[in-house]
Amino acid sequence: MLLFMFFLILQTLDSESAAAPKANCQIKLNSTLSTNSSWLSPSGRFAFGFYLEGSDGFKVGIQFIELPNKTTVIWTSHRDDSPVSKNATLMFGEGGLKLLLATSQGEDQNIVNLGQTSVYCASMLDSGNFVIYDNNNTVLWQTFDFPTDTLMVGQVLHKETELISSVSEMNHSSGRFRLLMQFDGNLVMYPVGTDDNTVNAYWASYTASEPYDNLNLSQDGILFLTN
Ligand SMILES: *[C@@H]1O[C@H](CO)[C@@H](O)[C@H](O)[C@H]1NC(C)=O
Ligand SMILES: *[C@@H]1O[C@H](CO)[C@@H](O)[C@H](O)[C@H]1NC(C)=O
Ligand SMILES: *[C@@H]1O[C@H](CO)[C@@H](O)[C@H](O)[C@H]1NC(C)=O
Ligand SMILES: *[C@@H]1O[C@H](CO)[C@@H](O)[C@H](O)[C@H]1NC(C)=O
Ligand SMILES: *[C@@H]1O[C@H](CO)[C@@H](O)[C@H](O)[C@H]1NC(C)=O
Ligand SMILES: *[C@@H]1O[C@H](CO)[C@@H](O)[C@H](O)[C@H]1NC(C)=O
Ligand SMILES: *[C@@H]1O[C@H](CO)[C@@H](O)[C@H](O)[C@H]1NC(C)=O
Repeated sequence: MLLFMFFLILQTLDSESAAAPKANCQIKLNSTLSTNSSWLSPSGRFAFGFYLEGSDGFKVGIQFIELPNKTTVIWTSHRDDSPVSKNATLMFGEGGLKLLLATSQGEDQNIVNLGQTSVYCASMLDSGNFVIYDNNNTVLWQTFDFPTDTLMVGQVLHKETELISSVSEMNHSSGRFRLLMQFDGNLVMYPVGTDDNTVNAYWASYTASEPYDNLNLSQDGILFLTN
């Protein structure tokens, strides 16, 4: 069971700066994806799009493609919602990212809603981060700010945010454990569904006396607290 808790993925590629050059911004406004396709990072190691969950349903997320037959889901959108059918479409448009469900009711579901903000393009980066930019190359939204069960090199678990384990390797809905970068500088593990209270903790860094704000993961595989 512990095996399924948190995937910490190390990779040897250089992590890019937040503002990637526009030339790398490959996903143009009004691009769409069907459930049989995805947007790949330049190296082909990361894919943003649909992945199969269960026997015939799909979720939207990011897969780390180690080998064609060995992939790991590192991020999932709406992880606790039911999977969608193979007829769904993902649309990158002016308001952000939208899932068109293609049901008789013609329902849509927002994946990212940026409202009236002027969106320009998006990128699946080789760090595993999916980023949406405006036309000044400013990051409007990125998956690194919304971790699910995985922390990537260069990604930071900020104060008062948490990783929540997945149910299993095949089911990325929220599971039973969480790792919280607590407001007091302590990094704590609690069962899901319990209060942030010492009596519920089953592991802690015991650093509450230090003013730590972030959990960082370095290129050489070191997890450390910073402020
Ligand atoms: C995207 O689609 C909207 C709505 O159909 C349209 O107004 C806009 O010009 C399109 N933008 C691009 C860059 O294709
Ligand atoms: C993927 O599905 C779309 C829509 O159903 C279809 O038009 C397209 O040909 C399919 N592509 C592949 C590679 O199967
Ligand atoms: C994944 O697990 C959740 C929680 O146990 C369950 O409700 C859901 O049906 C499962 N999803 C699939 C596709 O089996
Ligand atoms: C994946 O493919 C490689 C090369 O074809 C093969 O050696 C390996 O056993 C496969 N792994 C799994 C888990 O199927
Ligand atoms: C998908 O679309 C096809 C063609 O419109 C339709 O026959 C089928 O029932 C749809 N499947 C689902 C699961 O909605
Ligand atoms: C981009 O920068 C220019 C010049 O600084 C500014 O006038 C413009 O409002 C900015 N556009 C956006 C979408 O922020
Ligand atoms: C850790 O993450 C914080 C927040 O993003 C960042 O400011 C800091 O530079 C990182 N520290 C190191 C040593 O990488």
